[in-house]
Amino acid sequence: MNASHSNVTDWGLKHVRIEKDATVLDVGCCGGRTTQKLAAIATEGMVYGVDYANGSVAASRAKNAKLMQMGRVEIEQASVSQLPFPENKFSLVTAVETQYYWPELLKNMREILRVLRPSGTLIIIAESYKNGAYDKLQRPVMKPLRSANLGVDEQRALFSTAGYTAIQIFEERSKGWICVIGKKPVIVSYPTGGPSRKKIACSLTRPPLDLRTDSR
Ligand SMILES: C[S@@+](CC[C@H](N)C(=O)[O-])C[C@H]1O[C@@H](n2cnc3c(N)ncnc32)[C@H](O)[C@@H]1O
Repeated sequence: MNASHSNVTDWGLKHVRIEKDATVLDVGCCGGRTTQKLAAIATEGMVYGVDYANGSVAASRAKNAKLMQMGRVEIEQASVSQLPFPENKFSLVTAVETQYYWPELLKNMREILRVLRPSGTLIIIAESYKNGAYDKLQRPVMKPLRSANLGVDEQRALFSTAGYTAIQIFEERSKGWICVIGKKPVIVSYPTGGPSRKKIACSLTRPPLDLRTDSR
């Protein structure tokens, strides 16, 4: 993670309250800097990092070696598609600069909802989003990666369709940063069939298979 990731992370994390005894999951932990920052705040809690890439897991473990020895951080190799945790475990889930790459956005958001405690919070932080300050410059990089680059309305629709409540969106317009927050409702009603992919895609103004790609 470069310095700009660190800055956007600090800005984003200011929008959530992190208790000292929080149990936190950092999805897509990459080099582990956010995981380390979280452990410095949740000093009496526990921070877990997951990433699906070998290299990222190794880098994150190296960065957090001391905290791991102290039993305050654990890093595991896993995808957001299938988190190796029981339901209702985390008070906070963070995802910094990673949502772009998730394979099935809606399912992945619901998988996070599963592991969140009732009233627990998911925060997504990104330094690029559709119609953000640098969107036009960043698009050529995002497109070949087939990465989702959701805008404000699409994030709100995604969070809402996935079952989150108390959705808040903050933009740092001069820098092109976005931070999206949602909570797990105290009573979650998982729809039996769920809304159809088509309906969800419409609400996101993207075709079904394109939930993770930029269709412009
Ligand atoms: C730009 S880095 C994230 C930076 C990191 N969150 C931080 O704050 O330092 C993106 C990371 O997302 C991870 N990633 C991408 N898709 C993933 C998935 N489906 N599940 C878990 N991690 C994923 C990548 O392996 C990569 O390490």
